This record gives sequence, structure tokens and C-alpha cells, in this order.
Amino acid sequence: SVEPLTASKLRVEPSSSPKAIPDASALVFGQTFTDHMLTCKWNIERGWDAPVISEYKNLEISPAATVLHYAPTLFEGLKAYKDKQGRTRLFRPDLNMARMLRGAQRMAFPTFEPEELIEMIKELLRVDERWMPTEPGTSMYIRPTMIGTRASLGVGPSTEVLLFVIMSPVAKYYSSGAKPVSLLCSSSHVRAWPKGTGDCKFGLNYAAAVAPQMEAAQKGYQQVLWLLEDELTEVGMMNCFVGRNTPETGLEIVTPPLSDIILPGVTRNSVLALLRAHANPSHPFTLEGVPSQLTMSEKRIFMSEVASYAEDGSLSEVFGSGTAAIITSVERIGYKGGDVRVPVEGAAASGFGPVAGALYEALQAIQYGDVAFEN
Ligand code: COI
Repeated sequence: SVEPLTASKLRVEPSSSPKAIPDASALVFGQTFTDHMLTCKWNIERGWDAPVISEYKNLEISPAATVLHYAPTLFEGLKAYKDKQGRTRLFRPDLNMARMLRGAQRMAFPTFEPEELIEMIKELLRVDERWMPTEPGTSMYIRPTMIGTRASLGVGPSTEVLLFVIMSPVAKYYSSGAKPVSLLCSSSHVRAWPKGTGDCKFGLNYAAAVAPQMEAAQKGYQQVLWLLEDELTEVGMMNCFVGRNTPETGLEIVTPPLSDIILPGVTRNSVLALLRAHANPSHPFTLEGVPSQLTMSEKRIFMSEVASYAEDGSLSEVFGSGTAAIITSVERIGYKGGDVRVPVEGAAASGFGPVAGALYEALQAIQYGDVAFEN
């Protein structure tokens, strides 16, 4: 019979060479790894083998492994935070697992019971407890990954798969403080397209984004604003939000609706929930300093509109949301040979536009367990 992925079969083999833990101030995003990793092997005959937590070390795979040729690989990114009581809190892992399973199906990978993997991630956090950073702004970035390891140059389903989880203690994403970023609209590249794989966290989506990102950097912009024709999809590796304020409509925050060209971000989901709760007079949650007359809309946004809002003065802010940086404000967008200026009121002090800054503070408070939020 084919075995399911089972947390109760997890074996822990403690590392015999624990590493020295670097100072939180020395952490560069994604470059330091804990002592252990979780490994779950699957093959089409046996199903899932007993999972193992053992020393973080190099993988051994065949040079013919399909992942190295045809890119069957997907990943997740989630964070654990230490609360004031010393407990470790995973932020919304159920949403990451749901997305991982959708990706696994699209990639013809085996699936699993999300609760089993969450259980084992919790065990990995316990085993590497001494790595859990506690300074303000720090967290444990957790990277579940699935790769096809079948040793064959034939293109076909992954009959052997490796699921592994590594962990990286991280400080604030922008170590020298948050600053609004500049974006360049890409006119010669798209990140995702209808019926493509842009809604899955596939390595290939990120690999193909690097050259356009380098082009943007060469032209003096920090990240790419990914358009499909003229339609906004994402900023860099984050979901995007545009704020507009007119006397008639009040403050409206808009983000593209989920579709095959949009990654269903966990932070995106939280931003929607927080802004809607804030706008709902019968919900107790409020965002510091944000007008309560606010509409949170999911609808398509076009760059020509953003440019015209900047022109008529109704553009209030633009920001991105993601797990790594949480919230990033935008100050300038290169579009059709010119620059669209985005207001960044108050950003000199905080690095964020007003709604972005309030969201960042609120998300952090929830993530560290200082504030409870019930949808
Ligand atoms: C995120 O967390 O926003 C990301 O997708 C970044 C990750 C690829 C490093």
C-alpha cells in the first residue's frame, strides 16, 4: 500500500556538530541556516517514507534528477515569531500549506495532509529552539521545498520527490530601516500570464524574474513593477496595493483580484482582512492613524490609471506585501520613459506611506502575539 506522509513516524537525529549562532545584527536575509532540516522522501511505489529531522547538510541527488533539467520545484515561505511569553508562533501556516498543495497538484507532485507537515515544522522549530531569534523585528523564516528527483532525462511525472524544510533566522528585511522603493514597469517581460503558473510558488517564476530585475537595477530602479500589457500584477516578488483618495470616493485601496496571474499571498490576505476590519464599524480592530472611511477593493488596476491619479493628485500611496519584507512602500514608478511620483507622506520618519506604515505595525503586533485578531 502507498504510505501517506505521517508526522507520528518522524525520527529525530540530532546534529553532532551544532554551529555557533550569529548575532541578530549580523543576519543577512536567507544566508544563515539552523542546525537541522526536515526531509521527507516520496516515491511512487512506496509513497512517503518515514520523515527525518537531521543535520542541515548538502543534498545528494543524481545529476540526471529532473529538478536540474526541467525545474519541477516549488517552495513556500513562512515565519515563526517569538512572543513575549517565550512561545513560538507560526503565522498562518494553513494558508502556506493550501498554496503548497495547489502547486504540488499543478506540478504533478504527490500531495499530503497539511496538518502532518505543520506538525513536523513545529517539531523542527522545537529541535532548533536555540536558533529562534528574540530581538524585536526578528523571526525564523521557514522554507518548505519540493523537488523532483527522478534520475531520467525523459520528461514525465516525478516518480521520486524530495520534500525538505530548512530554516533561516532573519532580522528585519531592510536592515538599515524601511525606505520606499523605486519600480520600473517592465514592457518587454511579463512575470505571469493567463492560464500560466503565476499563481503557484514555482522556482521557475522567480528564476525568470532575475534578468528583468537586473535590467531595472541598471536603469536606477530597485525592483520591477510587473505588468501584463498595462495591467498591474505584482511589485518585485510581492502583491501590490494602490491607494487613491478623492472627495467623492474617499480613500480606496485596490489590489488585483486573485487569478492565474497573481500569487495568492498570505500577507496579501491579511492586509485585506485588516483593512476590511478597520473599515467595518462593528469590528473592534482599527488601524492607527488611518481614516475609517475606507474601501478595500479587489479589482484590476492599469498603470495608465495610476499615472493619471498621480497627475490629478488623487494617488495616495502604493505598496507591496509579502512574507519576507511584510510591507514595502513605493515612491517612484518608471513608466513610458518618465517617472510617476507616488506620495510617501510621513515616510521620511517611518519608511512607509500612512496606510502601509499602519499595516506594517499592525501585522507585526499580530505576528508577535501582542494583538489578537479575529476575522
Ligand atoms: C516574499 O516572502 O515576499 C517572497 O516571495 C520573497 C522570497 C522569494 C524570498
